[in-house]
Amino acid sequence: MSVTDRRINPQRLERTMFEASRAGEYFDARQLSALAGVPQNEVASVCLKELIDNSLDACETAQVAPEVGVEVARDGDAVLRLSVSDNDPGIPPEVVRKVLDYSIRVSDKAAYRSPTRGAQGNALKTIIGIPYALGSREPTVVEARGVRHTISPWVDPAGEVRISHTKVPRTVSGTGAGTRVSLTIPEEGQDFDPLRWVRSFAAFNPHATFSYKVKPTPQKWSKCTNRPASSRSRSTSPPSQPHHIGIVRRPYRRLYSAT
Ligand SMILES: Nc1ncnc2c1ncn2[C@@H]1O[C@H](COP(=O)(O)OP(=O)(O)O)[C@@H](O)[C@H]1O
Ligand SMILES: [Mg+2]
Repeated sequence: MSVTDRRINPQRLERTMFEASRAGEYFDARQLSALAGVPQNEVASVCLKELIDNSLDACETAQVAPEVGVEVARDGDAVLRLSVSDNDPGIPPEVVRKVLDYSIRVSDKAAYRSPTRGAQGNALKTIIGIPYALGSREPTVVEARGVRHTISPWVDPAGEVRISHTKVPRTVSGTGAGTRVSLTIPEEGQDFDPLRWVRSFAAFNPHATFSYKVKPTPQKWSKCTNRPASSRSRSTSPPSQPHHIGIVRRPYRRLYSAT
């Protein structure tokens, strides 16, 4: 081969092979939106929807009638503090640890073909990524089986995902059963109507009881509801007071048996 033959041919495109961890997709708003299949302004709603899905799934697996608690506190105009709790046996610590390994998917439903809510094993990973992707640097907290997991992710300048995970014994009042997941989501740009979600879940899951505490209730959350604020019927009606607390309990609950 002559020297001239080895010269770079300007007609030929020289490509360099890059490798990037896919974990970063869970911590970037644009990529999360593609992963979850929703517009970016709906990723906060994804957290609530997926957490309730998980609570219902876990209770049904354990054959207990689901009792799901939803709490949303709005801190000024800036952030939403969201917490979902349930009465399932509690997510085991080893499952939490595996969820934080972004090189694998983790699901107790992946091997089953059934019309379950989620079986992709990536929702909890997404829920841990969304607050960070939207700009929150507060940890996500998972409490279950006597353990309080504090989870703080960050993406280093090279794009690698780093996760700090600390575990301490959980101190709770009551039975201490169940799972509680709490996270902080920056509100800006998010279209988030928790009451609509609770109402929809209650309508389609008559075996479950939903309690909710939303404070304060801004106008924009109640305007999407389907009843007037003055309605006297059930606790699902939109609030006229700043703090909204209620329970949606259905008669079918007592007949529930997950088979
Ligand atoms: N609230 C919960 N209670 C008990 N286990 C849970 C709860 N949420 C999640 N898990 C466990 O974590 C796993 C991963 O959840 P997720 O990422 O949502 O995937 P999927 O729901 O598709 O299985 C679930 O399969 C389940 O075993
Ligand atoms: Mg799920």
